[in-house]
Amino acid sequence: MAGNITLTMIKPDAVKANNIGNILQMINKAGFKIVAMKYTQLSKAKAGEFYEVHKERPFYGELVDFMSSGPIVAAVLQKENAVEDFRTLIGATNPAEAAEGTVRKLYATSIGENAVHGSDSDENALIEANFHFAATEMHA
Ligand code: CMP
Repeated sequence: MAGNITLTMIKPDAVKANNIGNILQMINKAGFKIVAMKYTQLSKAKAGEFYEVHKERPFYGELVDFMSSGPIVAAVLQKENAVEDFRTLIGATNPAEAAEGTVRKLYATSIGENAVHGSDSDENALIEANFHFAATEMHA
């Protein structure tokens, strides 16, 4: 699967705004296959672990609080060139800079509450998929 998957989370802001269905529809329409999915809530500890790479950043505490503040949808998506194509679909991290028609342009409200996560490399996609899912929960 390496190179063909990415990990997404539909974040608490988008879940609260009832946008799970809209975002999943965009994902499917863009040609991604959902190979794993769960509706869950991260503890503060798990959110901190997931975003460990940002530990030294000034927004880390805010990010961990937000990501553990409510339920999320985590999913593994499969498609050729998955990481890059998904980042194109969701748009820039800051919704103010996101292109028209992207997930974040449509559904994000700020750089912190930006509706969705997408892996930034093939290597991290695998790490993040294994963070959320056991091998038996992924159905390529
Ligand atoms: P995500 O793609 O999930 O990866 C890291 C997250 O950190 C990012 O989306 C943003 O939600 C968040 N983030 C990045 N920069 C900032 C910032 N300047 N202020 C608050 N949150 C940020």
